[in-house]
Amino acid sequence: MRNVPIIAIDGPSASGKGTVAARVAAALGWHLLDSGALYRLTALAALRRKVELDDEAAVAKVAAALDVAFLEGRILLDGDDAAEDIRAEVVGEGASRVAVLPAVRAALLQRQRDFATAPGLVADGRDMGSVVFPRAQLKVFLTASSEERAARRYKQLIAKGESVNILQIQQDIEQRDARDSARSVAPLRQEADARLLDTTAMPVEQAVQTVLNWWFDLADVASRIIEL
Ligand code: DC
Repeated sequence: MRNVPIIAIDGPSASGKGTVAARVAAALGWHLLDSGALYRLTALAALRRKVELDDEAAVAKVAAALDVAFLEGRILLDGDDAAEDIRAEVVGEGASRVAVLPAVRAALLQRQRDFATAPGLVADGRDMGSVVFPRAQLKVFLTASSEERAARRYKQLIAKGESVNILQIQQDIEQRDARDSARSVAPLRQEADARLLDTTAMPVEQAVQTVLNWWFDLADVASRIIEL
């Protein structure tokens, strides 16, 4: 893992960091880690096994034994495609609950680090730059206002034909932010060495280009240092 280049993209729910991370990874031809999916899969597996989501030891056991495979556009849980199911609101809510449990985070740590293979990795989540890949060469904190994030989520849900209330969505987003930021292990926050990317008034292409430019600038500086 030492020599594998890593771009860590952390930030709150519905900030668009998943989309940006996927496009940056595609542009560079690198691997992608959607760490939120692992927390969502843990919650989904626990719900299916009727495990209480605040039973730390039991949920950590589920996390450690998680049978998942990330394939092109598909995520298999116990052999079945779960890519749709993990996006359900109830699973997102459950993910936020199991993510506060230190034993669950510990159980998922090595699984996340295993994604760091050549030629490089773009990892998105909450603690990619702080806990999982503290040596990442580029750390980005990608965010947007809660109004803007609610509006984006609203559009997605409406497109899926769901009837939703935008104020309720914004409230849920703010509640989840508060839980993710207040927890004692790996809280959501901008680390001192992470660059802030506020995408409130920014199209996704511009956000992707900004991250790529930051990466190319770093790579350029590194190659000049090697030449010296
Ligand atoms: O990014 P997401 O919405 O898929 O994440 C789902 C939940 O998992 C979210 O409430 C925070 C948690 N999470 C985390 O604690 N650490 C990560 N690296 C990724 C997600």
